[in-house]
Amino acid sequence: YDLSSWSAGLVYSAEERMVLDRSQMIGCSKLFLDLCVPVGLTGTKLGCAEGGCGACTVMLSKYQPTSSPLGEWVSGPLCSLHHCAVTTVEGIGSVAGKLHPVQERMPKSHGSQCGNNPTPRNENLSAACSSLHPADFLPLDPTQEIIFPPELMVDTLTHQHTRGVNTNTYLTPSLSVYLFHYLSVHHSLCLSFSLFLSLSLSLCIVFGASCSLTLLGDVLKAAVGKLPPYQTEVFNAVLEQLRWFAGLQIRNVAAIGGNIMTASPISDLNPVFMASGCKLTLMSKGGERVVVMDEKFFPGYRKTILTPEEVLLCVLIPYTKKYFAAYKQSPRREDDISIVTSGMSVTFAEGSTIVKHLALSYGGMAATTVMAKNTASRLLGKQWGEELLQDACSSLAEEMTLHPSAPGGMVTYRRTLTLSLFYKFYLTVQQKLVKGVRADYISATEIYHQTSPSSVQIFQAVPDGQKEEDVVGRPMMHLSALKQATGEAVYCDDIPLYENELYLCLITSTKAHATIQSIDTAEAESMPGVVTCVFAKDVPGSNMTGPIVYDETVTCVGHIIGAVVADTQAHAQRAAKAVRITYQELQPVIITIQDAITHQSFFQPVRTIQRGDLDQGFTQADHILEGEMHMGGQEHFYLETNVTVAVPKGEDGEMELFVSTQSATKTQSLVAKALGVPASRVVIRVKRMGGGFGGKESRSTTLSTMVAVAAQKLKRPVRCMLDRDEDMLVTGGRHPFYGRYKVGFMKSGKVVALEVTYYSNAGNSMDLSLSIMERALFHMENSYSIATIRGRGYVCKTHLPSNTAFRGFGGPQGMLIAESWMSDVALSLGLPAEQVRRLNMYIQGERTPYSQILDHITLDRCWDQCLEISSFTQRRAGIETYNRDHRWTKRGLSVVPTKFGISFTAAFLNQAGALAHIYTDGSVLLTHGGTEMGQGLNTKMVQVASRTLGIPSSKIHITETSTNTVPNTSPTAASASSDLNGAAVHNACEILLHRLEPYKTKNPKGCWEDWVTAAYFDRVNLSANGFYKYTNTGRPFNYFSYGVACSEVEIDCLTGSHKNIHTSIVIDVGNSLNPALDIGQVEGGFMQGVGLYTLEELKYSPEGYLFTRGPGMYKIPAFGDIPTDLTVSLLRDAPNDKAIFSSKAIGEPPLFLAASVFFAIKDAIIAARKESGLSGPFRLDSPATPERIRNACEDRFTKLCPPAEPGTFTPWAVVV
Ligand SMILES: Cc1cc2nc3c(=O)[nH]c(=O)nc-3n(C[C@H](O)[C@H](O)[C@H](O)COP(=O)(O)OP(=O)(O)OC[C@H]3O[C@@H](n4cnc5c(N)ncnc54)[C@H](O)[C@@H]3O)c2cc1C
Ligand code: FES
Repeated sequence: YDLSSWSAGLVYSAEERMVLDRSQMIGCSKLFLDLCVPVGLTGTKLGCAEGGCGACTVMLSKYQPTSSPLGEWVSGPLCSLHHCAVTTVEGIGSVAGKLHPVQERMPKSHGSQCGNNPTPRNENLSAACSSLHPADFLPLDPTQEIIFPPELMVDTLTHQHTRGVNTNTYLTPSLSVYLFHYLSVHHSLCLSFSLFLSLSLSLCIVFGASCSLTLLGDVLKAAVGKLPPYQTEVFNAVLEQLRWFAGLQIRNVAAIGGNIMTASPISDLNPVFMASGCKLTLMSKGGERVVVMDEKFFPGYRKTILTPEEVLLCVLIPYTKKYFAAYKQSPRREDDISIVTSGMSVTFAEGSTIVKHLALSYGGMAATTVMAKNTASRLLGKQWGEELLQDACSSLAEEMTLHPSAPGGMVTYRRTLTLSLFYKFYLTVQQKLVKGVRADYISATEIYHQTSPSSVQIFQAVPDGQKEEDVVGRPMMHLSALKQATGEAVYCDDIPLYENELYLCLITSTKAHATIQSIDTAEAESMPGVVTCVFAKDVPGSNMTGPIVYDETVTCVGHIIGAVVADTQAHAQRAAKAVRITYQELQPVIITIQDAITHQSFFQPVRTIQRGDLDQGFTQADHILEGEMHMGGQEHFYLETNVTVAVPKGEDGEMELFVSTQSATKTQSLVAKALGVPASRVVIRVKRMGGGFGGKESRSTTLSTMVAVAAQKLKRPVRCMLDRDEDMLVTGGRHPFYGRYKVGFMKSGKVVALEVTYYSNAGNSMDLSLSIMERALFHMENSYSIATIRGRGYVCKTHLPSNTAFRGFGGPQGMLIAESWMSDVALSLGLPAEQVRRLNMYIQGERTPYSQILDHITLDRCWDQCLEISSFTQRRAGIETYNRDHRWTKRGLSVVPTKFGISFTAAFLNQAGALAHIYTDGSVLLTHGGTEMGQGLNTKMVQVASRTLGIPSSKIHITETSTNTVPNTSPTAASASSDLNGAAVHNACEILLHRLEPYKTKNPKGCWEDWVTAAYFDRVNLSANGFYKYTNTGRPFNYFSYGVACSEVEIDCLTGSHKNIHTSIVIDVGNSLNPALDIGQVEGGFMQGVGLYTLEELKYSPEGYLFTRGPGMYKIPAFGDIPTDLTVSLLRDAPNDKAIFSSKAIGEPPLFLAASVFFAIKDAIIAARKESGLSGPFRLDSPATPERIRNACEDRFTKLCPPAEPGTFTPWAVVV
């Protein structure tokens, strides 16, 4: 263990070797990624730091004479790399060198990088493959195969060493003697047994504690293939749990022993091990003992019965002679932690169905994995039948109780699940025993199988005769795609460190509403590496960037109070935690919309849109119904969090900032204001963002301003990239909405009067909330013509971080509530929802409630085509048959239209600029006011310039967006950037073309370069500014984008899970500038909407603390959420005369089409409720999570678990 004699080497690439000295290895927690950045290997990113996003995945290989590489791996402690070869994305190929086949195929198929995996399987690539005419691929070159470094080819089993020093010790002992030596000396240690003990006995398989979950699965799968089925029920149950267990990278490193020993109450394996009576061999210096994993094994939260001297040596998983099953229910099916998880086993007395032994274990129902002992003993000796089922359910309802305030929330749902899962087990066993289960009840026993999604994309080819080099309308690959696939695309934090650069970490409030009494930075400032703390007093210019009244009051958890600046990120973060702040808490604390309504806490003004005499409208109506709906917010979850690098230039107050922002100009003006310098001294540069979605339209400025103030104070470059949890905490997201409605309608379903009131949860500042509410009101009737209508919008002021812009900007909220009353109308009349929707849909020439005439309307065409390509009628008939034959799974279908207004509603923002330079070699440098955030804006702008100038796109280049090239830009938002910037680019290019015209005329046979050279020698200005403005006289929108989607889903009525079976989308994008990018936007926007309406939930405590701060707790859609069968069709022959080259905006409109999934779920729930004799309208809030779906499918099990009376307890989380 003598480190003085030790040196380590890491092979970074075939050519480069780096030897780390001991000081670099101090601290086992040092991550591999920490070493990548300084040497410029920036392709591997830190997206979440919790194993949930895959951005840090590298390939890890270790020489094992008998097996293959270890596979994908998520960045972990450096010491665990001993004797490993690490291959980062740079190691497999590059744009400049040669692309790896995967790096080439994904972008050329218009896919996006889903990790770094040189040996991908089908499922790894499922998101990347599209039928969009895959381009010609280069032939496979065997020399590109990765070579394992020969110097690492040592027998690792006999070369196990101990590595690491300092407080945490990391061991890879090959001999237990090392281990126990350490156990007697150290208390906190991480263990890594690399030995896998696979002893195949006649009754069990024994796994070494450090056997990875991947290996566990492989061994069990092999056993299932060999052994008779009755012996492998437990193995199958483990495999079933592993199917949904974390991601592959985690399963490659997580060990069976680690999973047991972390003693998580929601472990997926522990319930299986407990119900199957697994045995564990424990070892200490004194010897070994074997224990059964039963209800005594976990004596308390995160505790096991192991003594401090003991370690888990191996796990014995038994063969079965009985019935066994395991269940896992999580918010998202793939890669998610459980809500409730379970293992169940039963044996019967010889030759009978009398219960001899029953074991039911549950995770997620207490502080530990528990066994339902009372229920199990109550059922002993009973016949497996209906009476036993009833007994079991009432007993489980009594035994598996939870306090209404239990951590994790979802109390009613979790309790119901214990019964529902048992019911599944009951029927599964019954089916095996007597095969006498009712045919429609077998649906409860079916195991979910994932099918690889397949998709079809339909778009119109360019007209015959369009010149080859004219790329407009062609599916041109995103210009950065190859660089993104190889990791060479430079993002803000990839900019190499400046020599004397410092790092900033925010100090944020831990209280939602309080006065700051004192701030003590003494301890923080004395910590290593700390340079200074920055507070409001350090702002040299104005600190007033909004209606801030009194600076010492914090108004949300996460309110930025100040910052610590240190030499490294780790030092800054450690010191920020050491800043002591005392608060005087204030009342009231307003967290939810309902709190705001109670306290009448609203920002002013309250907006209203009204048309016609509402009273008269309601008087005319045959029926009137009232309803309400809540819709949750959404986290932007851009892969790149907010980041700023500020570099003071040292003279005249100049500063250059590299920022991940959608609003270069806003950032510039706020930084200038805070620094007290003219805007002309501040340059903002944005090369590209790793996603924005509206989250970097205004909220990014809080960070960039802070970083600029620190850089100014210290006269040194300062950087900050927020960690995922910081970003989620401070930057806000989509506004939650609550809507109340009263709707008057005729017997036919025609809506004649509507009164709707919206409340949005704005958080602690106005930000963009008023405009967002306005857009919600502008979309309150979605696509329906309603004679008399009134919408009113209240923007609630609460003690949450300020919510902000998010793709759709209030539209998706306004329209979802519209579809809710539309669905209620259909339900109350007993009419098909599609019939009522079609009846009410706008037609050409009608006016919106704000009097905008709808011309060139394509809604009806989209609708008819969507019904056709989705085979709506046959599908509906198929669903009816399915639902008749299935009691416990139901299918639902819905078709939903959208009409989305394009342009900024704030008129002055409808302007854009561009700058084009032609150099003497004929190459063109283009700049415009928009920012590239993955949506492909730069690609489209190059296409526009290429057509206008009549030159190949390869001659045109865009480097970045910057405030010193194109000033006074509008944010890249409102879906309008291609329209506005495209027109500005067109304008600049036309000016240049005009200047070149004489030289073309003079030399018609010449080429582009000839004309440019001639013009240059003639002293012609080859640089031009373009400008465009759109004047919306008296109408809020330039035009509307239309689309229709039809979705089919299947729900599991017992668990609330759903699967997206089919979606057809027909959308009007005018004459698409680039069908590949547009279809990408449709598919991406739709899936983001699927997340919004069915999955993503921000959970806040009643005190305003955000629990969901990373991908572990906050789930965005995964591959498996993509509809198995997805068709996207761009409407043919629909030119739009209001935007560049007859195109239409595409960024936001498709998102709402995911409401078709929400209402398909509602349709399926209606079918489930019918089975319980329930009909008519019911409330379904968004997102339609498994919890909401299950609770809405009322049945005998839900009745046994009634919710606690509201107001009698404090819930763990509140609906904000
Ligand atoms: C992104 C992500 C997703 C996840 N998803 C799931 C999921 O879906 N289902 C689920 O059940 N879990 C899930 N987990 C939890 C995961 O299973 C555990 O973190 C993992 O199994 C721990 O294994 P490990 O080998 O990394 O243990 P370590 O983290 O190395 O060890 C865990 C603890 O056990 C102790 N320990 C380890 N081995 C021994 C031993 N032999 N004897 C005594 N003590 C020992 C260690 O000292 C440590 O305290 C997830 C975790 C992550 C990060
Ligand atoms: S950063 Fe490693 S998985 Fe997200």
